[in-house]
Amino acid sequence: MKAPNDFIQDTCNRTEDFKDLCISVIDSDPREDLKLNSMDFLVIFINRTLQVIIDDHSYLLNQTLNEELDNRTRHIFMGCMTLYQMSKDSLRVLLNEELLKQPNADLNMKLQQIEGYLDLCQNDFEGFTPTPSTWTSRYDYVISLLILSFRMMNLIKCNYIRAC
Ligand SMILES: *[C@@H]1O[C@H](CO)[C@@H](O)[C@H](O)[C@H]1NC(C)=O
Ligand SMILES: *[C@@H]1O[C@H](CO)[C@@H](O)[C@H](O)[C@H]1NC(C)=O
Ligand SMILES: *[C@@H]1O[C@H](CO)[C@@H](O)[C@H](O)[C@H]1NC(C)=O
Ligand SMILES: *[C@@H]1O[C@H](CO)[C@@H](O)[C@H](O)[C@H]1NC(C)=O
Repeated sequence: MKAPNDFIQDTCNRTEDFKDLCISVIDSDPREDLKLNSMDFLVIFINRTLQVIIDDHSYLLNQTLNEELDNRTRHIFMGCMTLYQMSKDSLRVLLNEELLKQPNADLNMKLQQIEGYLDLCQNDFEGFTPTPSTWTSRYDYVISLLILSFRMMNLIKCNYIRAC
């Protein structure tokens, strides 16, 4: 039987260019007893995505209260708050109900819907206002976490990182 560390290395290696992110997210979760199979990894990724979206939502709230922010950006951020709230709600249901109770449900579609909400926020900047760089970094990070979840989901279902 392999040591858990080998399991983490091997499993994360299968996510290919997201390997480093995979290892860092898994390593930063303290619950060692919940790293025994690929489904545990998926739960950790989705949970991390939720925590990051909660933090992004607080950031948005804070920014809308920042009087130095230009009106256009504030207006976009206010719209984004709704989309991030919807993403939070969806991820909570996914994590606390669907993922644990019906692991065979079509999680792919749910995650795609969440990615769609986050993209809608990002698209609001296009052609009007330069996207603040701190916001772009936040967006890129949460999207990379979603991609990691997609890959893990496909590894579980298809034994490969792409959808089957
Ligand atoms: C990591 O995965 C690649 C293929 O993506 C494979 O060629 C390589 O041998 C793997 N490395 C380890 C240590 O498993
Ligand atoms: C998600 O993470 C939080 C904080 O790290 C933890 O308290 C919670 O139990 C986790 N939820 C699941 C379903 O793993
Ligand atoms: C809110 O934003 C201000 C800058 O606009 C920053 O100084 C402050 O630390 C932020 N607060 C939180 C809770 O992020
Ligand atoms: C932003 O909007 C407020 C009222 O909605 C207005 O008083 C203010 O002048 C605007 N600021 C800029 C920089 O456009």
